[in-house]
Amino acid sequence: MRTSQPRTIYLSEYRVPAFLVDHVDLRFELFENGARVHSTLTVRRNPEYPGVAEHLELDGDSLKLESVSLDGIELGADRYQDQGDKLVVQAVPDKFGLNVVTWIEPQNNTRLEGLYKSSGMFCTQCEAEGFRCITFFPDRPDVMARFRTRVEADREKYPVLLSNGNDVDRGELADGRHFVTWEDPFPKPCYLFALVAGDLVLKQDTFTTCSGRDIDLRIYVEARNAAKCDHAMDSLKRSMRWDEEVYGREYDLDIFMIVAVDDFNMGAMENKGLNIFNSSCVLASPETAADTAFQRIEAIVAHEYFHNWSGNRVTCRDWFQLSLKEGFTVFRDAGFSADMGSPTVKRIEDATLMRTAQFAEDAGPMSHPVRPSSYMEISNFYTLTIYEKGAEVVRMIHTLLGPELFRKGSDLYFERHDGQAVTTDDFVKAMEDASGRDLGQFRLWYEQAGTPLLTVRDDFDSEAGIYRLTIEQAIPDSPGQTSKNPQHIPFALGLLGSDGTDLPLRLFADENDAPSERVLELTAARHEFEFHGLSERPVPSLVRGFSAPVRVDYPWTREQLIFLMNHDGDGFNRWDAGQRLAVDVIQALIRGDEEGVDERLVEAYRSLLSDPSLDQALVAKMLQLPSEAYLVELADSADAQAIHGARTRVLDCLAQALRGELLECYRRNGDDGSYQLTPEAIAARSLRNTALSWLLHIGDREACGLAQTQYQDAGNMTDRMGALRALVNSCFVTEREAALNDFYQCWQDDPQVVEQWFSVQAASLQAGTLNHIRELLAHPAFDWKNPNKVRSVIGVFAGQNLAQFHQADGSGYIFLAEQVCRLDDSNPQIAARLVSPLTRWRKFAEPYGGKMKQALASVRDKEGLSKDVFEIVHKSLKE
Ligand code: BES
Ligand code: ZN
Repeated sequence: MRTSQPRTIYLSEYRVPAFLVDHVDLRFELFENGARVHSTLTVRRNPEYPGVAEHLELDGDSLKLESVSLDGIELGADRYQDQGDKLVVQAVPDKFGLNVVTWIEPQNNTRLEGLYKSSGMFCTQCEAEGFRCITFFPDRPDVMARFRTRVEADREKYPVLLSNGNDVDRGELADGRHFVTWEDPFPKPCYLFALVAGDLVLKQDTFTTCSGRDIDLRIYVEARNAAKCDHAMDSLKRSMRWDEEVYGREYDLDIFMIVAVDDFNMGAMENKGLNIFNSSCVLASPETAADTAFQRIEAIVAHEYFHNWSGNRVTCRDWFQLSLKEGFTVFRDAGFSADMGSPTVKRIEDATLMRTAQFAEDAGPMSHPVRPSSYMEISNFYTLTIYEKGAEVVRMIHTLLGPELFRKGSDLYFERHDGQAVTTDDFVKAMEDASGRDLGQFRLWYEQAGTPLLTVRDDFDSEAGIYRLTIEQAIPDSPGQTSKNPQHIPFALGLLGSDGTDLPLRLFADENDAPSERVLELTAARHEFEFHGLSERPVPSLVRGFSAPVRVDYPWTREQLIFLMNHDGDGFNRWDAGQRLAVDVIQALIRGDEEGVDERLVEAYRSLLSDPSLDQALVAKMLQLPSEAYLVELADSADAQAIHGARTRVLDCLAQALRGELLECYRRNGDDGSYQLTPEAIAARSLRNTALSWLLHIGDREACGLAQTQYQDAGNMTDRMGALRALVNSCFVTEREAALNDFYQCWQDDPQVVEQWFSVQAASLQAGTLNHIRELLAHPAFDWKNPNKVRSVIGVFAGQNLAQFHQADGSGYIFLAEQVCRLDDSNPQIAARLVSPLTRWRKFAEPYGGKMKQALASVRDKEGLSKDVFEIVHKSLKE
């Protein structure tokens, strides 16, 4: 067991820094057995600091201190204290230069924070608090300095030496070593520092900015990946253009670099001028990466690029403000992805993520506001709430202000705070000042946790022609927060007439030219709206486009849902109606209220499948049944096996009844040989692979042959993987084993493809998957030190394979607890992320919930538990 409880950090304890650092001069001597870091800081007292600080305190972690000098004079041990996590330099003057030399061991760094080695190259990850693993420094984002970095290493092993900014000097050194010096003219917090040293090839391009400056674009990868950079480079150029056009943001340095590394805790990192990417989030070719990977890469490249303004030029004052950069940047990358593809599909994907995963987080033990007020380990707060809900909050501001005023607000924000470290409140203030709107109550979105529940009821007065809508909002209690106040909610609404068209929404009897869609603004616990001049009772289309991250309770009939599926003018709500219908049917089976699958669902799917005049990108989404994770989220007390069973029955029934339509859909959407990333082409691939998987689900022989042929002949990974996945989840044992073996034989040398091979098996519906998972952990391609491998086997199994993970005997939970404990010693961040499926034990019925709790307790009792896992496990077991 852990002997001491980690300290909780509170927002209310924020104080401005006592000292500022204007300049940092770094010199790295990189060797095989370690690295020596020489750091010279130009320090002065912060005039805004209340009171006088006698001592300078710098953060550190796992550093071996070699020397400390002040203004060129080495200090004796009596002038400073090395407390391990802090270096205290006593009685310092008002302005001084401080030189600190530390020794670190990147080759032994398995936490992948600070400076570490990944497949032979040196690289860094400093956000949030990794810079302190490199040298002693005030490791907080409100200390912004100019960095100059000299990197020295063996020329043969590490021909490429990179850091932030521009290269200003390079040369030869003794013993076959060389150096390069980099200078970043923009002051930045140390979490944006980066260094790379390795044997890399360069893929180069240029981008001409709106003011005519030529930017040198460079993607550095290992030689074997040279052919997998095109998509990232194209995505980068599109992002740069989009940010100019939509936000008026021009790139500022002369070089923009991306480096791909295989071992990386996260997806990618926005270090100034030198973004570092997880290989899986940047490398792609049609043969090796599926459509989802291509889209993810485009979004991540954009996201990290967009941080150059929303994050780097304007950064966070403290880590409680994390959503200032992450929420805003996710909102920006979502706008970009919508513009590059299908806006409706993008909205469906984002809303699905919110409703399945963020709502679950918001209702669970780790629930926290978009701007949290306390944490133990900041790495645990890179959450769906900070990212996705944070983006939804910015989106609601956009909806309330409209595009022009929102743009005025973002311009003011960037101009007013350029070069500063600010708060979410400063962001909202800029939006208020630019628009003249009062967002006082709206700020509660940042302060109150929990998902608002809107209860909507209606009645129709046929005599008066008035349709009355009452909307009540309630926000559930969450850890540390009760009796919440009503929030300001933009509620987009349409009313459909029986002919399927949108009716005018007259809020006043005499309103002429009433719009057919309105955004109602909810600010009170209860509202009543009256719509006049209606000759029939309308069908309401509520929260169109998911205009706010809320749950909606309205007593739709199945007939109404089918009507909305066919007629709603809002594509998102057409999809939503289909989801609600399917949920209703599945839930009735789970409760045992209905014997069989409602014919009307089958017929609704039949018309989706057989009408090629419908938007096929939307149809591809509408055909996806609500996920098991979403059904768990909607349940009060989830019986995992019952949910899986009922959903499987619906799938079986649909596939049996629609066999002819599925085969026809498969043929109609055949591969035309070219690989394109348009919404139409993506939809066609999605449709044919959905059809294939449904048919194999019911053991269709003909479809098995189609899958084998598709697997062999596929010209791209989307189709190859689609066929493999369908076979893996089918009853055709020989065929699926043959395909899995063949796949590994073909692709064993490509780590990104091997990760997909692991994932498809970890997500397998076959009974006995847990035993197979244990075999995969012993597979020569599995590597405990590589987060992608861990995620693709253990993460996928525990997070995406409901039926196999939730075994009634608790074996899945015990397995996960063991792996979390094992990983906690080498990489606590990854261990903390992996444990999260267990934290939702309260959501599950017996015997699941109790056994999940037991497994969590076994993690809690582990010797020497990290702060990361401690925080999550303790909060989950509380009370
Ligand atoms: N700044 C983060 C990366 C990061 C997160 C570093 C946590 C250290 C700790 C980066 O901008 C980011 O948000 N990356 C996301 C992908 C993005 C598209 C949402 C990621 O890595 O998953
Ligand atoms: Zn980010």
